Amino acid sequence: MQIAIVTGASSGLGREYCLLLNAENLDEIWLIARRENLLRSLAEEIHTRTKIFPCDLLNDEHIQKFFDALELEKPDVKFFINSAGFGKIGGASDIELDDLRKMIDLNCKSAVILTQKIIPFMSAGSHILQICSCSAFQPIPYLNVYAATKSFLLSYSRALAVELAPKKIFVSAICPYRIKDTEFISVAQDTKNSSYIKNFPFAGTAKEIAIKSFRAAKSGAIVITPDIISTLHRFITKIFPKKLLMISSKIFHRL
Ligand SMILES: NC(=O)c1ccc[n+]([C@@H]2O[C@H](COP(=O)([O-])OP(=O)(O)OC[C@H]3O[C@@H](n4cnc5c(N)ncnc54)[C@H](OP(=O)(O)O)[C@@H]3O)[C@@H](O)[C@H]2O)c1
Repeated sequence: MQIAIVTGASSGLGREYCLLLNAENLDEIWLIARRENLLRSLAEEIHTRTKIFPCDLLNDEHIQKFFDALELEKPDVKFFINSAGFGKIGGASDIELDDLRKMIDLNCKSAVILTQKIIPFMSAGSHILQICSCSAFQPIPYLNVYAATKSFLLSYSRALAVELAPKKIFVSAICPYRIKDTEFISVAQDTKNSSYIKNFPFAGTAKEIAIKSFRAAKSGAIVITPDIISTLHRFITKIFPKKLLMISSKIFHRL
């Protein structure tokens, strides 16, 4: 049985990837997120059979049910798309410690644990898509922990891509700039003070970012910047010193 597994399938990019996977002739798509009602309405929208895992990825008991299903059904996982993640905007004292801990646990720890558990069920031609961010390319004041978690995920993904290449399993790190029509920005702004980063000029849409990045991932690209700003950002961060980049990012976020 050939399947895709998508975390963060209830909204935003994850949901858009599920709509694209619908055209991949898979036997099943396994949907993971906390909000079961949204997963159910997505399942009604796609013709591929689905399995729904209402799952808080920070809760070990919830994840175990998903791991048990993997062991029981032993599917051939052709796509694993890890889109669950969140960020928080604010200065050092503006973000609750618990939110910082959850951000690290979801964006890094859960990403690694899921990936390691899923790899044994992949075969030649399978794809892992880790949804990182162009925040991964440099330290970002007032998004400091979020940017650091995405740097971790980018670094992990790049190395994993080399390790899995002999098995012809492809790993892609998707590194978009901001996306305006997902829940990410409202979640990120829900802190004691998020006024440091108010505007998101040139933000893209989930549909266009999902289409471009999915196409690039299927072609085997490793680091994918699916919009102009993230592409520019990637190259600028290779040239300029980190201190200058951080000053520029503060100015950019005030635009
Ligand atoms: N939007 C942007 O500007 C932007 C830019 C670059 C990168 N990204 C990255 O893109 C990815 C998708 O974000 P998005 O923009 O599509 O935002 P989104 O609409 O907020 O989607 C986040 C998804 O993660 C799920 N999620 C959050 N916490 C979870 C948990 N504890 N357990 C299970 N699922 C959880 C949410 O579902 P439930 O709430 O139902 O659990 C939701 O489906 C994230 O990794 C984000 O860092 C976003």
